[in-house]
Amino acid sequence: MSVHVQHAFAKWTEVIPEGEIRRLLKYQVKYYFGGGLPGALATEHLAGIVESVGRDLLAELAAGESGKALQAFNYSKTAGLDSLRLLLLQLLVKRQKLPYIPERDYHQMMITAGAQQSIYALLDATLNPGDFVLSAGPSYLGFVSPVVKLGGKVVLCPSDQQGLTVEGVETAINVIKRRFGVAPKLLYVIPDSDNPKGTTLPWERRQAFFEIAEREDILIVEDAAYKEIQFGGERIAPIKTLDVENLRVAYLASTSKEAGVLRLGYAMLPEDLRAEMEKARGFYDLCSPVLTQMIAERYYHLDLDSILKDVLDIYARRSNAMVESVGKYFPAGEMTHPQGGFFVWWEAPEEAHFNAKGFNEAVAIPNDILYVPSEAFYPVKGWKVDEQARDLIPVSPRKNGMRLSFSAVQVPQIVEGIEKLGHLLKMHLDR
Ligand SMILES: Cc1ncc(COP(=O)(O)O)c(C=O)c1O
Repeated sequence: MSVHVQHAFAKWTEVIPEGEIRRLLKYQVKYYFGGGLPGALATEHLAGIVESVGRDLLAELAAGESGKALQAFNYSKTAGLDSLRLLLLQLLVKRQKLPYIPERDYHQMMITAGAQQSIYALLDATLNPGDFVLSAGPSYLGFVSPVVKLGGKVVLCPSDQQGLTVEGVETAINVIKRRFGVAPKLLYVIPDSDNPKGTTLPWERRQAFFEIAEREDILIVEDAAYKEIQFGGERIAPIKTLDVENLRVAYLASTSKEAGVLRLGYAMLPEDLRAEMEKARGFYDLCSPVLTQMIAERYYHLDLDSILKDVLDIYARRSNAMVESVGKYFPAGEMTHPQGGFFVWWEAPEEAHFNAKGFNEAVAIPNDILYVPSEAFYPVKGWKVDEQARDLIPVSPRKNGMRLSFSAVQVPQIVEGIEKLGHLLKMHLDR
């Protein structure tokens, strides 16, 4: 006889539902514009590196040196291998112009299990229930949902074609200060090719956010997940370049899009924050595997520009195909023009009363097409500024838009799928 056991779970499990992207994974469709999977990676280089790591370890064992092999499969420092932290900071200085001296400052680097773990450890180490956190709305749920889980209050600020607006952030800070007597604790920004909207923040806004952070004593969380996946020409320096004293900006990067999903992230952090995040991280998984760190180290020793050239060409072609096709086949609406990353964002006009989630389920998926509806990029509980009342009010997710991912779809499928989707949308919206 089977016994039914009802386990008692933590409160947050009742509050926070399964993410929409994960839920949509169950559908198999021909035109998959859903999750942002890396569809182009330097796989040959990576496979070669894996082989060389194995071969070198075998050679060392054959020579009677078992120490290195034992190390490769052992526990290691919670903050990551020193040699990898140093190398990655050297690269951040060289490629992103971070204003540090690698040999002196690499101790403030932390290797984590993906940028996702940096995000969680940072929130875990900084947030108390009731703390205010600013982010764009729509936003990356991997950031805003953990804020809700930890009892923080997410205040969503407006974003336009260039990302988060300075006025929106200033207004939110003023209202929070006046109404609650405190400043927000964190400001979350994805400056390069934002997820979900694909927007890139101009330099003037990056400067303005840094000035705000200094003036208001707010920590900026700069999520640089797509910093190397840039195919649109000019690259804009990170906000972190302004943080000469390494006090105001937590700079979170990842191997996932630029090297492969090795489950390795790397962050350059203010010293005290790094120490507290290390403490928090100790509770999750103790350390990242030495083996994957060895693979990453060999990868980042290669010439990234030449390795990423083919990868970026592929993404550029896919992005262009999607931007052109949406422009050509979709009904009137507003779309973004990404300079990098994986996503195009499209919204139907307000007055069309378009419900993207309902349309996905009822029309797109049955027609072999899938996107992520805009609703999916709002936390279950969030706030926004009510300009008239000068107060915070609960935010309601925008329902009229969609994130279209081009990263893992071949150009002909993008053109075909977007044409088909555009046709279906026109039929629906013209009714
Ligand atoms: C904006 C953003 N930040 C962080 C992450 C997490 O990346 P990682 O694979 O390094 O955990 C993602 C993943 O898609 C992302 O889009």
